[in-house]
Amino acid sequence: MNGFRSYDRVEFAPEAGLNLLYGANAAGKTNVLEAVFLCALGRSHRTSRDTEMIGHGLAGGYVGIEVETASGLRTIEIKLRQGDDAKSSKDKKQIFIDRQRADKAGELMGVFNVVMFSPEDLALVKASPDVRRRFMDMELCQLHPAYYRKAAMYNAALRQRNALIKEAFTDPIDPEVLDMWNVQLARTGAEIMRSRLEFMDDISTIASDMHRRLTGGREQLFTFYQPNVPFEGKEAEYAIYEALEASREEDIRRGFTSRGPHRDDIGIKLGETDVKVYGSQGQQRTAALSLKLSELALMRQVIGESPVLLLDDVLSELDDERQKALMESAFDCQCLLTATGVESAVTRKGAAVFKVSGGRITRTDQAKTQ
Ligand SMILES: Nc1ncnc2c1ncn2[C@@H]1O[C@H](COP(=O)(O)OP(=O)(O)O)[C@@H](O)[C@H]1O
Ligand SMILES: [Mg+2]
Repeated sequence: MNGFRSYDRVEFAPEAGLNLLYGANAAGKTNVLEAVFLCALGRSHRTSRDTEMIGHGLAGGYVGIEVETASGLRTIEIKLRQGDDAKSSKDKKQIFIDRQRADKAGELMGVFNVVMFSPEDLALVKASPDVRRRFMDMELCQLHPAYYRKAAMYNAALRQRNALIKEAFTDPIDPEVLDMWNVQLARTGAEIMRSRLEFMDDISTIASDMHRRLTGGREQLFTFYQPNVPFEGKEAEYAIYEALEASREEDIRRGFTSRGPHRDDIGIKLGETDVKVYGSQGQQRTAALSLKLSELALMRQVIGESPVLLLDDVLSELDDERQKALMESAFDCQCLLTATGVESAVTRKGAAVFKVSGGRITRTDQAKTQ
């Protein structure tokens, strides 16, 4: 990468297995994982402003990655440019797959898969619903590239409907135009809801196994999809359309669209207890860990290939037992793990060790010669 965050120019060649990146705070460890994440999902995991990733004072930045996948050796490159420099928003972020310019970020989905796990993810359970929606969406985009397109269409229609509703403060709105957006939202929203339902069905079984293991069988975890528009026994499309019709006056009064999958959530229970509300911090974190690890397991199952696991500063947040479970789940993955020190829990597993400092990434253990 080049002109990316704190890096002028750096190359990094991790091993196929476990890789530890260690260094002081603000050394640039997360920046490396962010660069990898960017190549997988076309966006940062921590900001929605792409230009934030460009090195301070530079006109542009570049990240390129070569990955070995089941479909062979692939190259992904992202070029970022400052707004004033770029002719259009498309020029601000250019994506190249195998040296070919991609039209849309959607083309990137599924080419190279990652699972990112950072300390914020441990707050998944007690965080606001948008964090849990993002959890579903990140995985679904990678598992089903068509999902990304659907979500983009839904969001575009939602922005249009919201803009129209806001106009209603001053001018009467055309009911036919509103109806057109309702139809559009119902159609794309229904597909999102069906995908999320299926995803949550798949992941909840794995998560509850994982949780049982993490708690030595003491706790029974239930996770389930909580659609904002319930559609049991009904066509999802019809259910959304009905909800939009019914909330029309209220939406106009409040100035936004109050119903639809953009307000979905995930339900999380231990036995009968709602963990989001009543769980102890330990229970909430273990449930979050179970969900994240299931994400990894599910991706492995569906794609038949392990994603690259990005573990940012999470080890220090976990007790020994949970650390062990995490490291066990990371088996046969390529894993990039960051920490402030050389963690023995990781080196014991034969990790390649890299020191991150002064804008450089230097291997500090003896590289294995084969
Ligand atoms: N766009 C940018 N340009 C230059 N430096 C940046 C940019 N964004 C962040 N940084 C620098 O990167 C460092 C933080 O890197 P990070 O990877 O988050 O550190 P850590 O090793 O703690 O994970 C800080 O020194 C910050 O000033
Ligand atoms: Mg960091």
